[in-house]
Amino acid sequence: MITWGISSESHNASLSVFDGDEIIFASESERFSRVKNDAYLNNNIIEYALKFGHPEDICWYENPYKKQLRQLISGQGWIQNVKKYVDAPIKYYDHHYTHACGGYFTSKFDECCIVIVDAIGEFQTLTIWEAKGNNLKLKYQRRYPHSIGLWYSAMTQRCGLKPNEDEYILMGMSAYGDPSRLTCDIFDDFIGEDFKFKKNLHRGCLDWRPDLKTEQDYFDIAAATQITYEVLFRNVLELSKTLVDSKNLVLMGGCALNCSANPIVYNYYDNTWIMPAPGDNGSSIGAVLAHKKKHIDWKGPYLGYDMGYKSTNTEIVDYLLENKICGLARGKAEFGPRALGNRSLIADPRDPSVKDRVNEIKRRQKFRPFAPVVLEEFAEDYFYGGNNYMQYAVKCKSKELTSIQHIDTTSRVQILKKEDNPQFYDLLTLWYEKTGCPVLLNTSLNIKGEPIVNDYDDVVKWQKTYKVKVFN
Ligand SMILES: [Fe+2]
Repeated sequence: MITWGISSESHNASLSVFDGDEIIFASESERFSRVKNDAYLNNNIIEYALKFGHPEDICWYENPYKKQLRQLISGQGWIQNVKKYVDAPIKYYDHHYTHACGGYFTSKFDECCIVIVDAIGEFQTLTIWEAKGNNLKLKYQRRYPHSIGLWYSAMTQRCGLKPNEDEYILMGMSAYGDPSRLTCDIFDDFIGEDFKFKKNLHRGCLDWRPDLKTEQDYFDIAAATQITYEVLFRNVLELSKTLVDSKNLVLMGGCALNCSANPIVYNYYDNTWIMPAPGDNGSSIGAVLAHKKKHIDWKGPYLGYDMGYKSTNTEIVDYLLENKICGLARGKAEFGPRALGNRSLIADPRDPSVKDRVNEIKRRQKFRPFAPVVLEEFAEDYFYGGNNYMQYAVKCKSKELTSIQHIDTTSRVQILKKEDNPQFYDLLTLWYEKTGCPVLLNTSLNIKGEPIVNDYDDVVKWQKTYKVKVFN
């Protein structure tokens, strides 16, 4: 039986396909439409999904009736009806409940605390749940307009960046700023008691401190915003420990992408699971799991468009040794924002000039860092922590590999296990055998502001436009 999960009409729409209890496809809509963070489904993704069969049920990631009420209050428009594409009954589940189910039922835990921090769904913005067996119990909620995510997006916009898209750039900028300069002002002007905010930040805060307008001012706002977020996040985790007695944490919501803050969980929980697409895109999976209400066997994030494998790893490593940088577009695309070897731009991290060269290819700001991938066996030699899905920015031990470190010497590392991606693991092993270095620079195969390369046509366009070889 085929079931579809849909997250759409807000930002970064996605579609997942289940065959029984197995996820057989999941992708963001943007990969097919080529519109960054596309809020709507498109014919291409729907046609690709229909290759797996017609759905008998569709599970929608939030409750449109509650959302409509909130949208009426905040003056936003009504939602588009998916039924114009596919005729199947639609089941609706609450936004935070789908986040919670998506996280918990893809985890290995049979009991845990679930923490969800995001911008806004219907009304909930921060929830804490107790999960036991197949049951989830809401233990705490903070509701709109009070929202940690909305505030972080408002600060992103205040720094001249795009809200709901560039939050990760703000996080990267924070390492260049002085957090002591503005943190007190941010607390005084925005932060109230018990995760309440002094202003409704849905419309941003562009009028906040008009005197701050230099590049260094923006870096300082970013630093103060990030440190304030980390204080709030710590408080959320402390609260969660008082509400749910567990050593296991499931962290979901768009704020779970804050890889600089995520290592804080190490202080509170023994085990943490963050689904690779913890934001609303992942809720296409969460909606189906809210419907099924049981654990599935999570096999990994390689769930998207399938390119197959044509090139050999020997060819790729030989090319890399001569040219330092190349693209990979092989197998199934990753679901979620991180390129984990199937839609990646990889480079020799030992070359100090490589960071500038890759930044030039990707048209990114010079301060932006690049992530590394390391063979699991060598992870501890190079990094203090990290995981297989690039969800934690942790200190790098290497003095030489500066191209894969941020200015604060952290790296958002992918620790590569053979079972996660055997082809990529073999490639990195071959690279290690030839160079003695078990690390590669690994960034997504896109340029700033564009979706990650999806199919063969995108590869051809990429090679022609950016003059970088892509192996598929
Ligand atoms: Fe959300």
